[in-house]
Amino acid sequence: MKSVILLAAGLCAGALVIRAASAPENYETHCASCHGKDGKGETKAGRKAQVKDLSDKAYQAKFDDAAAFKAIKEGMKDDKGKEKMKAYGDKLTDDEIKALIAYVRGLAK
Ligand code: HEC
Repeated sequence: MKSVILLAAGLCAGALVIRAASAPENYETHCASCHGKDGKGETKAGRKAQVKDLSDKAYQAKFDDAAAFKAIKEGMKDDKGKEKMKAYGDKLTDDEIKALIAYVRGLAK
């Protein structure tokens, strides 16, 4: 009986860890400040960084998943080498980045 309780407790702890790193939460923590909850980028930081509308299908068609992956993992710079979006390779795992791309794709209607 004791082992069953321990097993159940272990499963709950595991579920919490996975939940804490889910794409919507990572988006909220790392991305929404610029891109906005809805992806439109109508935030103070978003306007300053001149983000484009991630809820716009036409914009999303301009980059494929590989480009988005690289942009999130390694960051993006403009033509003059000024940082547009910072690199998240040290904060997010490859799997988290992939989940975020799927999440971002879902923001476009
Ligand atoms: C400091 C503000 C800022 C934050 C925070 C930010 N971004 Fe961006 N993001 C930008 C800017 C600016 C662009 C470039 C817009 C352009 O094309 O000029 C961009 C572009 C993108 C693109 C398009 C990539 C491409 O290849 O064109 C994706 C996808 C994206 N961001 C996802 C994310 C995700 C996911 C996060 C959170 C992990 C995030 N961004 C956090 C500012 C930000």
